[in-house]
Amino acid sequence: MKKILSLLLSMTLVFSLAACSGGGATSSEGGTSEPSSQTPSESEAPSNSETPEESAEPTEETGGTLIAYFSWSGNTEQMAQMIQTETGGDLFEIEPATPYTDDYNTLLDVAQQEQANNARPELASQVENWDSYDVVFVGYPDWGSDAPMLIYSFLEAYDWEGKTLVPFCTSGGSGFGRSLDKLPDSAPGANILEGLHVSGSRVDGSSEEIAAWIGGLNLT
Ligand SMILES: Cc1cc2nc3c(=O)[nH]c(=O)nc-3n(C[C@H](O)[C@H](O)[C@H](O)COP(=O)(O)O)c2cc1C
Repeated sequence: MKKILSLLLSMTLVFSLAACSGGGATSSEGGTSEPSSQTPSESEAPSNSETPEESAEPTEETGGTLIAYFSWSGNTEQMAQMIQTETGGDLFEIEPATPYTDDYNTLLDVAQQEQANNARPELASQVENWDSYDVVFVGYPDWGSDAPMLIYSFLEAYDWEGKTLVPFCTSGGSGFGRSLDKLPDSAPGANILEGLHVSGSRVDGSSEEIAAWIGGLNLT
């Protein structure tokens, strides 16, 4: 009897051990939401296959050139396009959130009012990947011997530390006006290079002048 009892006990022990080890394998194969599921997912994706993906993640590139401009009647836009041809940079149009009137006389009043109030009109959009640009050309028409106030909104919207700012301008004849003196306050930290002014009526024939100016800037 003792022998039978001891035989039964040994058999029970053998079965329960087998059941334990079998249960462990099942949970590690199928229990994806259980804590033990971490083990298979780690072994399914070997760590050395993750490393290249992580290191291949795009790091923010620098060294780019941006040509940002505001233009009401097209002259400064044309100059911006010529600068793009010369530099291969990206174009960005600075636009007000509320578009300016199409009426010249009304615009004169609006521009004067904005200047008198030292206004900062709201911008319609922002430059993407600002950090990827090292050189930023900023172009505008002369409005009342100054830049349109929208240009100061633009300058003050970004971090200029370490950037090179190159101003350009078109006008009826008076040039940059007061704007060149005001740029450093609105773009602190920027290295401001020599700008180029072209009369609005002469933009068409100014490609050589633009090429010579850009060549002389020694941009890398
Ligand atoms: C509101 C306003 C104010 C202007 N003020 C001046 C000025 O003070 N001096 C000047 O030479 N030209 C002035 N102009 C002429 C423009 O600067 C010139 O036509 C410029 O090339 C226009 O550039 P855009 O076509 O890119 O807008 C003014 C034009 C406008 C619309």
